[in-house]
Amino acid sequence: MSVPKNRGILIAGNWKMNHGPAETQKFFAELEAAWPSLPDHSGQALASDQLQVCLFTPTLSLQAACAARGKLPVHVGAQNAHWERSGAFTGEISGPMLRQVQVGSVLLGHSERRQHFGETDEGVRRRTVSLLEQEFFVMACIGETLAERQGGQTRAVLERQLSGLFPETGSQSGAARFLGSRLVLAYEPVWAIGTGVTATPEQAEEAHLMVRDFLDRQCGPETARKSMILYGGSVTPENIDSLLAREGVDGVLVGGASLKPQGFLALVAAGARAVGSKPA
Ligand code: 13P
Repeated sequence: MSVPKNRGILIAGNWKMNHGPAETQKFFAELEAAWPSLPDHSGQALASDQLQVCLFTPTLSLQAACAARGKLPVHVGAQNAHWERSGAFTGEISGPMLRQVQVGSVLLGHSERRQHFGETDEGVRRRTVSLLEQEFFVMACIGETLAERQGGQTRAVLERQLSGLFPETGSQSGAARFLGSRLVLAYEPVWAIGTGVTATPEQAEEAHLMVRDFLDRQCGPETARKSMILYGGSVTPENIDSLLAREGVDGVLVGGASLKPQGFLALVAAGARAVGSKPA
């Protein structure tokens, strides 16, 4: 997977700790059966790489997902990976292990990893840089909590997390050199995750502008322009169109609504509608 020149649209599902290998197989069988119901222009958008689709499954389900997706244009990714390639890191998985099962994409720094498992800005940076250097496609997550938003800290928190990822200025330093090719960002306000409370399209756009503004200052305007920024947090087939219609919202990262094949397909269809209908 890679970022197309004019950014395009990326529809990503994060299954979190749902769907073991058996459910994964069933999901893809149903998805394949329902896939022809997608409108024609979805196929064109997918073929032209203007629309990309990815599912981040539990580690144990990766092999089942890769086998079961068959010829469907759905990338399969892991929900985390360690910066070291091997060693004494109980419970972790590494890039070379993912390669062995033909997985080339990784989600990193999800707020659930940060909140429940103590991942730090520095740890997320190390994972991100290492996996990018191992030629993975990486989706790195950022986002503020409700208390931080209510305390007027949204911009400060996003900038702290982004500074963690991009500590040096310039378009060629650290992870920044992969923006626009194999690194995308997902803005996921913690208060909108799994709560049913979605950020309004205006709130999403405002936060995305903050992120792009930071990238402009830290990594340069060209890098900021070509960077993909996704929104995540209670996205559904009902609200996705209004989110994708906003400036600078280049896709979505979806939890609950990506778990059922029909719902996921509806999100893919919305991604296809958004392709070509939005300013870069
Ligand atoms: P929900 O879509 O279930 O709110 O989850 C969002 C999320 O955390 C995706 O990574």
